[in-house]
Amino acid sequence: MILVLGASGNVGSQVVARLGERGSRARAAFHSADKAAAAALPAGITPVVVDAAEPASLRAALAGVTRLFVVSPATPDLSRHEANAIAAAQAAGVAHVVKLSIYPAHEQYTFGRAHCASETSLRQSGLAYTLVRANAYMQNFVNFFAGSIRAQGAFHLPARDARVSHIDLRDVADVIVETLTRPGHEGQAYDLTGPEAITYGEAAARLSRALGKPVTYVDVAPADFKRAMLGYGAPEWLVDGMIDYERLCIEGGAAAVTDTFARLMGKKPRSFDDFARDHRHLFG
Ligand SMILES: NC(=O)c1ccc[n+]([C@@H]2O[C@H](COP(=O)([O-])OP(=O)(O)OC[C@H]3O[C@@H](n4cnc5c(N)ncnc54)[C@H](OP(=O)(O)O)[C@@H]3O)[C@@H](O)[C@H]2O)c1
Repeated sequence: MILVLGASGNVGSQVVARLGERGSRARAAFHSADKAAAAALPAGITPVVVDAAEPASLRAALAGVTRLFVVSPATPDLSRHEANAIAAAQAAGVAHVVKLSIYPAHEQYTFGRAHCASETSLRQSGLAYTLVRANAYMQNFVNFFAGSIRAQGAFHLPARDARVSHIDLRDVADVIVETLTRPGHEGQAYDLTGPEAITYGEAAARLSRALGKPVTYVDVAPADFKRAMLGYGAPEWLVDGMIDYERLCIEGGAAAVTDTFARLMGKKPRSFDDFARDHRHLFG
């Protein structure tokens, strides 16, 4: 039995769908009881409600579970909530934990620090583990920019001409399911990137081609970005973390291209053009 945390999220929902397609037995953990009740899950997958801040809910969801997928949203609670999940997995005798982490996994930026603390908890737990470290998702363009691309044909970031080797989160989910369902991934850390590092200007040009309408990348000052994001109601920790991440990208910290996906999956990762073509209906 596999427990998938964050089943309503970007990655967790794709992991649940793939486990369903494979006919795996799994529990899909939802934070909200309403989402758990409304979820249309594949056969063999049952919903459960978990609050990672509440160890008792994790322990209950882990009864009889042998493999656990850990994901937390990007909040200041990430490492504390994941430590709770790891402690509950130890108590339940879970055989293997797969954690969604971030690429690059080092402490020189806010999100990296949170994930490094969590990676350390998992390594020190004595549990068998796999770290799936993903670079920025291509789907961030949908989640963060689709609204402004639909309304203004533009998106804004304080990223100058940074190159980023974005990865399609469908590929991230494929690797997570591979590591959850096949042996041989214990003790491994997988740095996942897309097939090339592109600037946001190049991403805009590719979206323009796929959408058949002009899309422009607007480089903005960090202070202006922060003011706008706070105005939309984004939490300050997240906005500061995003600005810090763009600083890392400007310094070249997210531009490397790895062959990890191809080695693991025996095929090329999806390109930004693949992503743009498959998601063009979401950009208007
Ligand atoms: N965005 C990127 O480019 C990128 C790249 C690499 C790594 N990451 C990492 O990916 C992670 C986020 O993954 P994602 O995009 O799949 O997340 P997401 O879409 O924000 O989903 C988070 C999930 O966690 C659930 N959740 C929230 N609070 C919870 C709690 N207290 N207890 C239990 N579950 C809770 C949410 O449920 P509700 O829907 O009910 O709130 C949701 O299902 C972060 O750790 C981030 O650092 C992101």
